Amino acid sequence: MGDAISYKDLGLVNSRELFRKAVDGGYAIPAYNFNNLEQLQAIITACVETRSPVILQISKGARNYANETMLRYMAKGAVEMAKEMGGDIPIVLHLDHGDSFELCKNCIDSGFSSIMIDGSHLPYDENVALTRQVVEYAHTHDVTVEGELGVLAGIEDEVVAEKSTYTQPEEVEDFVKKTGVDSLAISIGTSHGAYKFKLKEGESVPPLRFDILEECEKRIPGFPIVLHGASSVIPEYVALINQYGGKMDGAVGVPEDQLRKAAASAVCKINIDSDGRLAVTAKIREYLANDPGEFDPRKYLGAARKELISLIKHKNEAVVGSAGKA
Ligand code: G3H
Ligand code: 13P
Ligand code: ZN
Repeated sequence: MGDAISYKDLGLVNSRELFRKAVDGGYAIPAYNFNNLEQLQAIITACVETRSPVILQISKGARNYANETMLRYMAKGAVEMAKEMGGDIPIVLHLDHGDSFELCKNCIDSGFSSIMIDGSHLPYDENVALTRQVVEYAHTHDVTVEGELGVLAGIEDEVVAEKSTYTQPEEVEDFVKKTGVDSLAISIGTSHGAYKFKLKEGESVPPLRFDILEECEKRIPGFPIVLHGASSVIPEYVALINQYGGKMDGAVGVPEDQLRKAAASAVCKINIDSDGRLAVTAKIREYLANDPGEFDPRKYLGAARKELISLIKHKNEAVVGSAGKA
């Protein structure tokens, strides 16, 4: 890695002010994962066009895939691109599911403005200690920190959680006080990936545990809460994927009305990755099936990017409610 660089020199912001406004305004800031150029272009284009603040998320896996130096310059490029488009929107560069102090420190030193330290799999006291250590370093650099209490079912980056453990509301106040985190991810029934609920024939998706969310809110009033695993696994994309040679039977996500309800509460950050992956895969499959002779990646990646732009605009406008808030 080269010399340490501050996110402020890249034109990025931390999440503090965005979350305060989102909690007060009853909407959420969307956090979209990216791994490549087309995803980043789509996120920026859609957020500028809808005048939405945005959190660009990079997982450990994305960082390994895309190269950390490349990512730093991509984030800088995203800020410049937004400005050129005439939309000076607030852009946060966030580490998704950081799993060690060293990784978090490395990201802070290489231009991230926000960090998640996910100690949710650790015993409570170890989660507190690790999160506290990250907060101490991050805050000396004016970087904001997200912690997590409770475990989501599904795949959390490289850690596989077989079963979800809902957040215990009795713990949140103590955790926030002892760690000094700026926001808290909680587990209320969402999970990562495209297979969030196992439904039998005729069954519908069970509602999220809004009772747990309310209990948490009561104990830490106005404190920014984060929802992971918030893709809706849009059925049209799953159908396209299956129509054009894919196999994604039983893929199901969180209904949009539940996410709207969450966004209106103290949930101020909603994480969406899988829906973007589905949109890209559906459009590439469709494109190549209809034009099997095409071999210019700009053609099929361009079609995927176009779809991603309309998906993200839809999320900002009709799901998280961040459109017009930049
Ligand atoms: O929470 C996980 C995100 O969807 C990132 O996934 O670790 O495969 O990049 P990834
Ligand atoms: P989804 O898999 O539901 O998109 O969740 C993404 C996420 O929580 C990233 O941290
Ligand atoms: Zn997540």
